[in-house]
Amino acid sequence: MNRLDAKKDHYRNLAHALGYRSRSAFKLIELNKKYRIIKRHFFVLDLGCSPGGWMQVSKKLVGSKGKVVGIDISDMDEIKGTYFIKTNINYSKNTVNNLIKYFGRKIDSVICDISPQVIGVRSIDHIKQIELINKCVTIMDSILSENGNALFKVFDGEHAQQFKSDLKSKFMKFKTTKPKSSRKSSSETYCVGLGYLND
Ligand SMILES: C[S@@+](CC[C@H](N)C(=O)[O-])C[C@H]1O[C@@H](n2cnc3c(N)ncnc32)[C@H](O)[C@@H]1O
Repeated sequence: MNRLDAKKDHYRNLAHALGYRSRSAFKLIELNKKYRIIKRHFFVLDLGCSPGGWMQVSKKLVGSKGKVVGIDISDMDEIKGTYFIKTNINYSKNTVNNLIKYFGRKIDSVICDISPQVIGVRSIDHIKQIELINKCVTIMDSILSENGNALFKVFDGEHAQQFKSDLKSKFMKFKTTKPKSSRKSSSETYCVGLGYLND
């Protein structure tokens, strides 16, 4: 086994041992330790949430007084104490109305690990993902409270820089980072926005 495969197995095995549904859970754990995107009692929206690793982590972080809602086009087995909406984020208008009803107020964090079905051609996968995350930013703009936080995955490529600078302009603090648990070979970067500027 080469070093990369060993690393991949390490996080997969750890996820299995700790009861997380995805190895992605460790990316959120790691990023949250560093940036405190999600805190106790927060209201959190997870866009592209299935199978639910980030939802599990978020639920633990917010505790019983927080709320976690996840949206995905695919099914997801229930996670106790969280709310799941099965829908395509492209139909965002109805979705936003449902979210506002469920949360009852603007929310504290939006996290987004959404990916299209990848075909393995980086340039095409990149464009499809950029379209999705731009839709997610529109949802974020209608529901994130002033001073709220966000985490977005972006696939590297021609439009990534524009996406990052648009997102950056919406926050007081902004970082891009690649967690240790992300595969070196993967083209993903994570954007962290802290302190949403609601103007
Ligand atoms: C990498 S997975 C998310 C993993 C998740 N963060 C976890 O920890 O389990 C990306 C998700 O984006 C979802 N997705 C892709 N296109 C979507 C769309 N148009 N609307 C909603 N979800 C979508 C996929 O179904 C997939 O479950």
